Amino acid sequence: MNIHYLTLFPKMYDGILNTSILGRAKEKGIVDYHTINFRDFSGNKHNKVDDYPYGGGAGMVLKPEPVFNAMESLELDDPRVILLCPQGRPFDQKMAEELSTENDIVFICGHYEGYDERIRSLVTDEVSIGDYVLTGGELASMTMTDAVVRLIPGVLNREESHQEDSFSTGLLEHPHYTRPREYRGMKVPEVLLNGNHKLIEEWRHEESLKRTRERRPDLLE
Ligand code: ADE
Repeated sequence: MNIHYLTLFPKMYDGILNTSILGRAKEKGIVDYHTINFRDFSGNKHNKVDDYPYGGGAGMVLKPEPVFNAMESLELDDPRVILLCPQGRPFDQKMAEELSTENDIVFICGHYEGYDERIRSLVTDEVSIGDYVLTGGELASMTMTDAVVRLIPGVLNREESHQEDSFSTGLLEHPHYTRPREYRGMKVPEVLLNGNHKLIEEWRHEESLKRTRERRPDLLE
């Protein structure tokens, strides 16, 4: 998979995409990340990428030319083109699973009051990572990258498996314990110590249900 980021701040990506599982996925050749500074595609001599809104009002608007020019320079065959904005469809595990099968994903990351509406003609999806406003789409694109890349076959090893993740089962995950058996008076539940796998599975399922009912009843509906 190739992931392309149209951004004014390519440096923001250096640490995250080269570290831990995302970095390892790249080293393994499963995924590659490409940042494109669309200021380089402004098409004007002052490298201007934003302008005042027609009709007046506060804030600047991202001009269409830099984004159209940068997109055309990519010459991709049928990519998913994702515009990050708070008005988009809420990102969730199901969308992460769907995106994990794509060959090319392009994230368009704005940093202004808004995008010129014509930019929307380039995109296949408008996505929000939550009901709050970020200063730009970069962190949202990295959050989505993290959720997507870990689902690509070969990225996680057996110990890191995602089969039982919260959300992929439709429920939140059950509690986990490791050694020691007792820590500061807090004991590991007996059922996990007796080696009866059927009982352990039942306990885990019950705990998952309980947690989901308490914390995220909306998931059970
Ligand atoms: N850009 C600004 N806020 C955002 C959000 N919540 N999700 C995605 N992109 C954004």
